Amino acid sequence: MYTGLKHLHSFMPYVLLTVLILALLKSFIAYQKGQEHTEAHRKNGLIVLILAHLQLTIGLVLYFISPITTSAFTDMGSAMKDSTLRLYAIEHPVVMILAIILITRAYSKSKKNIDDRTKHKIKWVSYLASLVLILSKIPWSVWP
Ligand code: HEM
Ligand code: HEM
Repeated sequence: MYTGLKHLHSFMPYVLLTVLILALLKSFIAYQKGQEHTEAHRKNGLIVLILAHLQLTIGLVLYFISPITTSAFTDMGSAMKDSTLRLYAIEHPVVMILAIILITRAYSKSKKNIDDRTKHKIKWVSYLASLVLILSKIPWSVWP
């Protein structure tokens, strides 16, 4: 199970990053042009949200079964002094969860009764912040 989930968690970022960047560009352009927030815009946000939630769910399972994190848990004191172990045990999960909260909040706000320009603005700003957070904590030494 570990190997399968690890591969899935490693493959999904290609799709997630692609749809996130596309949704970011789409909402930025729609914001600039003062376009309506249509059903298609809502669905774009929903696709990003579903992929992010799937990545979160798989990540949470990996967190408790991965040999990297479980070895870090045996001695958290020493793990904190090791930059690789600290990345997997703390920084990667915390920052990725923050990025996913931003994606979820953007989708949630886009369903509220607020004006369309504000919806597009919340979306592109949240997606940009989320993209920066994700890129900052991807384990670049092992991925892509
Ligand atoms: C947007 C969200 C996320 C992205 C884009 C992401 C991306 C990645 C990538 C690219 C790797 C390296 C995979 C490889 O070795 O080929 C990785 C590993 C890992 N991620 Fe995530 N991740 C995300 C969220 C999370 C979350 C929320 C958790 C935990 C709560 C998590 C836990 C882990 C763990 C434990 C590993 C190491 C697995 C191992 O090699 O044993 N990830 N992640
Ligand atoms: C640890 C796992 C998960 C957590 C903590 C979580 C959390 C949430 C939260 C808080 C919302 C509410 C967003 C709002 O205010 O509208 C939400 C919505 C949603 N989640 Fe997740 N989720 C998780 C896993 C999943 C998975 C595995 C999927 C499916 C692949 C999923 C699909 C969705 C969808 C489709 C919605 C939007 C529903 C709507 O249209 O309002 N989530 N999730």
